[in-house]
Amino acid sequence: MKQPKPLHYHIKTYGCQMNERDSETIAGVLAKRGMKPASLSQADVVFVNTCTVRDKAEQKVFGFLGRLRELKEANPNVVLGICGCMTQQEAVAAKIKARFPHMDIIIGTHNLEQLDSYLDRVLNKRQRVLELWQQRSDAEIQLPARRVGKYKAFVNINYGCNNFCSYCIVPHVRGREKSRTPQAIREEIEVLAAEGYLEVTLLGQNVNSYGKDLPQQPDFASLLNHVHAVDGLERIRFMTSHPRDVNQRLVEALATLPKVCSHVHLPLQAGSNRILELMNRGYTREHFTNLVEQLRKAVPDIAITTDIIVGFPGETEDDFAQTLAAVEEIRFDSAFTFMFSPRSGTPAARMDDQLPVAEKRRRLQQLMEAQNRISLELNQQLVGTTQRVLVEEKAGKLFKGRTSSNKLVFVETDQDITGSTVRVNITEAGTWNLTGRREE
Ligand code: SAH
Ligand code: SF4
Ligand code: F3S
Repeated sequence: MKQPKPLHYHIKTYGCQMNERDSETIAGVLAKRGMKPASLSQADVVFVNTCTVRDKAEQKVFGFLGRLRELKEANPNVVLGICGCMTQQEAVAAKIKARFPHMDIIIGTHNLEQLDSYLDRVLNKRQRVLELWQQRSDAEIQLPARRVGKYKAFVNINYGCNNFCSYCIVPHVRGREKSRTPQAIREEIEVLAAEGYLEVTLLGQNVNSYGKDLPQQPDFASLLNHVHAVDGLERIRFMTSHPRDVNQRLVEALATLPKVCSHVHLPLQAGSNRILELMNRGYTREHFTNLVEQLRKAVPDIAITTDIIVGFPGETEDDFAQTLAAVEEIRFDSAFTFMFSPRSGTPAARMDDQLPVAEKRRRLQQLMEAQNRISLELNQQLVGTTQRVLVEEKAGKLFKGRTSSNKLVFVETDQDITGSTVRVNITEAGTWNLTGRREE
């Protein structure tokens, strides 16, 4: 017997921007079937897009799957799907299949293009679906997308990662690097600009290795030049840059292309060269600080943000002190800081000298305190300056937007300024945001 036609969907997304972008594709596929977004309790189809980068991310997903069990008990017709980086791992997918029999569709990161047919199988034949592909069939396949933002959009430029940092699961679940062509990327951005989008963020695990797998081997700087020419587009961002692969051409592109924003997310991961080597990062602290110097010289108002892991196996008190010293020396605008989380199948999970959680927590706390102080100090230096802010939405009585350097700004003004770029006089600074008044 066929199920009634589903009318509403709900998508729960964990993890990074790649997943946010993939969820826009899931929404696009469901919207094309005539479905509308709804709250969890109103939905006929629910998708969980998962992250496995750290254990904490996985625990959150398992908690949510428990809630979905209750939903299925209350409404046996609801179709429940799970996809993303967790389920791309065969062992995890098998575990979910066995322990969570209420999940109807279990797929990985590579087979979203078949989503429509999987739904048909569940709805028309009442079959459970478990399918994992080992790689993407074709990076160019363009599925419909229902985007979250009105002015800012994510655009994939390369999928996967070839780096195999010793702690990281991402290459195992996202596959090898695969670049989209400059033409396909530009066409997508032209459509976005015509629809009124003002800003794009070019996404890749390592944008600086863009193009190496394409026949003409266009590099990332040439891609920036190529998309810079799109009319109507105001801002171009990108993430993530790998410190080993940032080259002079990228520094030049940042300095000379006005639409390219003054922000680089450059994960340091650790301040000790010994740990960087164990992490298989392929650069030293000296290389990193030199790069930061070059970037700041070329683009004086550039903001540099980072990711740092504390408590990598064998990290001594002295290694950690070097991370703290690097943070004090470099003075990042902000940092995402993490406790090392062993991921099964990665070399670091098998290394000796795993640190106790309490020690990792202590180091994380100390690092966060240092970084928060620095973030506040750097933000305070902006008080009294004028910043150009792209305003995205209303936030209470104020408006919310970002500077080119990606700082969050709350703007006071009497007019509705959503979707415009305005000059703002910064009046107050906090650790995570700025406040200012619109200049006439
Ligand atoms: N491709 C990006 C990062 C992707 S994962 C890059 O190379 O910079 C985002 C961040 O999660 C990483 O930068 C790292 O700091 C953190 N991370 C990855 N694996 C981790 C692990 N096993 N434990 C703790 N943090 C981890
Ligand atoms: Fe993970 Fe390293 Fe690849 Fe980033 S570059 S996704 S940290 S393996
Ligand atoms: Fe998580 Fe996958 Fe992104 S593991 S961080 S969602 S690439």
